Amino acid sequence: MNPLKLVGFKTKHLPRAYVNSSVRFHHEFSTQERLQAAKKAGWNVFQFPSEMLKGGDLLSDSGTGTLTAKQMAAMILGDEAYGSNYGYFKLLKTFEDTFGIANADSEIYFFHQCRAAEHALFTQIGGFGNSLKIPSNGHFDTTRANIENNKIKAIDFFSKKLHSPDHSTFKGNMDIDELEKLLKSDLDNIPLVYITITNNSGGGQPVSMENLQAVRKICDKYHKTFFFDACRFAENAWFIKKYEPKYKNKLITEIVTEAFKLCDGFTISLKKDGLANMGGALLIKKSAPVLKKHPELLNNLRDHQILTEGHPTYGGLTGRDIMTIVEGLKTVITESYLDSRIGQVHEFGRYLKERKVPVLEPFGGHAVYIDTDKFFADTKLKRGDFAGISLTALLLLKGVRLCELGAFAFGEDYPHNFVRCAIPRNKYEIQDLYYVADCVAEMYQQRKKIPKAIPVFGRNLTLRHFKARFELK
Ligand code: F0G
Repeated sequence: MNPLKLVGFKTKHLPRAYVNSSVRFHHEFSTQERLQAAKKAGWNVFQFPSEMLKGGDLLSDSGTGTLTAKQMAAMILGDEAYGSNYGYFKLLKTFEDTFGIANADSEIYFFHQCRAAEHALFTQIGGFGNSLKIPSNGHFDTTRANIENNKIKAIDFFSKKLHSPDHSTFKGNMDIDELEKLLKSDLDNIPLVYITITNNSGGGQPVSMENLQAVRKICDKYHKTFFFDACRFAENAWFIKKYEPKYKNKLITEIVTEAFKLCDGFTISLKKDGLANMGGALLIKKSAPVLKKHPELLNNLRDHQILTEGHPTYGGLTGRDIMTIVEGLKTVITESYLDSRIGQVHEFGRYLKERKVPVLEPFGGHAVYIDTDKFFADTKLKRGDFAGISLTALLLLKGVRLCELGAFAFGEDYPHNFVRCAIPRNKYEIQDLYYVADCVAEMYQQRKKIPKAIPVFGRNLTLRHFKARFELK
């Protein structure tokens, strides 16, 4: 008897890459109590108490993950010194190891989160001219807001394939024909070209290495600086490994370092693929073309950081945060973690699809996006009725929280109309996500009865989705 032969079978289900080492029990709330709270919150999901959610707080994957035991242990070593704390040097080394960019060849600025890094960068760049434009494959909302707040135009060149039914695997790619057209017509007004990996505003879709290389080539041709918004860099690398044949046998870490050779710098929220609850950074390579014309940028950014965050050796971070990031970056590039993480997101998507809920395919790395226009296509509801808001509002009563990223968040003319189900890292079991999907599927069955969401406060405010109040009618 060969015991190995006997167990050579494949199973339908695979275990997660981890086990729970600490759990938190839900408190019980009635639907009536949730209704009262939802009304008090003006049906705004951001204002609804998270304590009342059960099994599915999919508002964001940002900073919402469960720390690993190694991260918790590392936190104890967090050094709260005001200058040059113990973890700072570890973090510098981890950046070098993770992204393959030597500390000596770059300047690194730590911030409490990515939007603070964006604020620093775009405040400085805003001073470079009057009619500036920053093109991207899809700016995230805070990135766009920080760009536009500095009188720079944020331009999205989403892939034309994003809504095609062909299920192309890299729908997060930048439309490079549009990029080249812009560079040809407006060369002097483009301080940076940005690419978001993965493309959060465009369905969480990945960007191929081929596309990153193509953008690099165009930037070289026009002497432009190329930055990544690298929040979900490891998840993006996983897609490159799975779907770009050349990378099939490469390690995730090799793919990451190859990708980061292509950029001149990046901003990153360490609350995503840093697997931390807080943290952000900005890295600029000393070879970045922008520094030739603006060598003062590095020092001005340093001053901005000191004025708004703290000493450069801690940025806006506690010593404990720093230690969680050091450990998080080591875990996030392991294949078993990524298989488990993205496998869970995809199983959730498959289950929703099986229940006929219209979802964007293929599924992204961190979230499944419900196509709100398709969801309500055979109802009387139009984009201006903000039915995506109504859907997310009503789901609160079931203890489920999703996020509208469409007609209300970005305006009725925005190219996509999504409700996003973002999955926190290492937090939920698939059973929790099946519950969310069952609730969404049930709402889909009842879609013709779902009311309009009428904004009664904040309709004309900037960043209105965070502040508005609604009535459901
Ligand atoms: N860029 C992207 C692509 C993001 O997804 C986010 C945050 C940021 C920048 C800003 O990072 O939160 O650290 O300031 N996205 C979160 C989300 C909030 O829910 O998608 P931050």
